Amino acid sequence: MDRIFSGIQPSGEIHIGNYVGAIRNWVKLIDRYDCIYCVVDYHAITIEYDVTLMQKRILETATILVACGLTPDKCIVSVQSHIPEHTELTWIFNCVTPVGELERMTQFKEKGRRHRHNVNVGLLDYPVLQAADILIYKAGYVPVGEDQVQHVEFSREVARKFNARFGKTFPEPQVILSEAPRIMGTDGSAKMSKSLNNAIGLLDPPEMIWEKLRTAATCEHRQRRTDPGHPEHCNIFTMHQAFSKPDQISFVDQQCRTAGIGCIECKEILFRNMKEELEPIQARVRKMNGTPGYIIDILKSGAARCKTIAGEVMDEVRTKVGIKPSWL
Ligand code: TYM
Repeated sequence: MDRIFSGIQPSGEIHIGNYVGAIRNWVKLIDRYDCIYCVVDYHAITIEYDVTLMQKRILETATILVACGLTPDKCIVSVQSHIPEHTELTWIFNCVTPVGELERMTQFKEKGRRHRHNVNVGLLDYPVLQAADILIYKAGYVPVGEDQVQHVEFSREVARKFNARFGKTFPEPQVILSEAPRIMGTDGSAKMSKSLNNAIGLLDPPEMIWEKLRTAATCEHRQRRTDPGHPEHCNIFTMHQAFSKPDQISFVDQQCRTAGIGCIECKEILFRNMKEELEPIQARVRKMNGTPGYIIDILKSGAARCKTIAGEVMDEVRTKVGIKPSWL
């Protein structure tokens, strides 16, 4: 079976953008591919973070992945720092990566602006670690949201450079996009993001989800109830496309364009669908929180399974770059 790798940072609450943009797609792929899904903690320390909350967030993120359906009988769930080969391969990839290429990456420029006081080497090197995450397992496919496409393309470049210099070793990984690769935030103006205070959390209780939806920005052309709307410019409609059934999506589309229903009615339909999909996940998270040993066992066995693959690939890499002595 072809291998898939993808990752998620434990850097705050997991939101519905992560869910429909990535995690829900990860679940769809577990029967057809050999899948590894990873909580990427080393990526999360490239920006300011609360040390005392880190372990809680790692476990919470892993718990959410399992609650969404990434169960250990079907795929591997692991934590990046438990497999040191990720960072070992990063160093080798650093040595085939021009600094200029990293400086041009969109997310580096964006984060560099946002974290002006802390533009550390890790932030610059972030895509190299991401390439190592994928290639240490020779994964051929990477399911992500749209914002990660550039990073996956970069990992293809790294594979190409390594192969050209040291001989064919790595595949050139391809992106798999979900049907909702870019969910906008409740502000309607930026991508839903953990750091922008515009997110609907996957674990938010229903009242909170409704409050966030009720007050969320809608299509700016619809100022009054009687104005016809433009669903293609409305972030609520994008969420409908991710959570509602096809007949509801066409109903809302048509009713919005003709001012048949108002924004609140439109949001109520969305809310009911979101609640229906998220409640069972939240219930499974609550249940697993009661037995933390269960998730720890999944992560331990995930690390062991990953180490077997990563250890073999790292051995091959050490030989190819000429640093493995014959007596080791
Ligand atoms: P992260 O933690 O920011 O996001 C995890 C996944 O969620 C997707 N996503 C979204 N999709 C749609 N709409 C949104 N508003 C939205 N916000 C986030 C992301 O595209 C991602 O797929 N660098 C990565 C983590 C990573 C990784 C990897 C991914 C590290 N190593 C190797 C793939 C392969 C990140 O920060 O994702």
